[in-house]
Amino acid sequence: MKFFIDTADLTEIRSLAGSGLLDGVTTNPSLIAKNGGVFAKVIAEICEIIPGPVSAEVAGTEYDQIMAEAKVLRKIAGNVCIKVPLTPDGLRACKHLSNDGTMVNVTLCFSAAQALLAAKSGASFISPFVGRVDDIGWDGMQLISDIVDIYNNYDFKTEVLVASVRGPNHVIEAAKMGAHVATLPPAVLRSLFNHPLTDKGLATFLADWAKTGQSIV
Ligand code: E4P
Repeated sequence: MKFFIDTADLTEIRSLAGSGLLDGVTTNPSLIAKNGGVFAKVIAEICEIIPGPVSAEVAGTEYDQIMAEAKVLRKIAGNVCIKVPLTPDGLRACKHLSNDGTMVNVTLCFSAAQALLAAKSGASFISPFVGRVDDIGWDGMQLISDIVDIYNNYDFKTEVLVASVRGPNHVIEAAKMGAHVATLPPAVLRSLFNHPLTDKGLATFLADWAKTGQSIV
């Protein structure tokens, strides 16, 4: 399973890049607004830090505008992935961009039917938002399961990118279902390391090692 990081915070991205666990980055207009900075410059810097796909979302909603913005964004770096909304115009742009060899992430997916449309439009990634589905009392992970099943029935190349992840359980459940990618807020990625028995065991080992009076180097 690939891990993307869901942030536009350059400090976080730099710090987590050293973990060797990051395969890509997703941003969205809210994350860009939260972190500040000039959009194109922020994306360029992220693309330099992380060689994998870096999603940059268009602000246009009509086909011509989406295509014009995509043309600008994809010039920023070879690893920019154009993020388009799951709308008729967004999917039309997805089809054209994908045919030209541009990576496209279709965002704001909340149903299996929408995911099917995105795959037929040649998307590189489909982003179902599990946390937001859970928030309205539906089952976000059931959505992932449905999409993985549907994609497995056909020869779609579209990767399932689990988005709006709120905690480790979303990641584990998605991995069990065989989702290709999860995009994680930095805090969720860090939380995956945690287990109280690891902390307790390490404390015991260190205390016992100190008793030996030895050093390895
Ligand atoms: C995905 O690409 C989105 O940026 C993100 O996962 C949305 O998550 P949220 O529901 O926590 O805003």
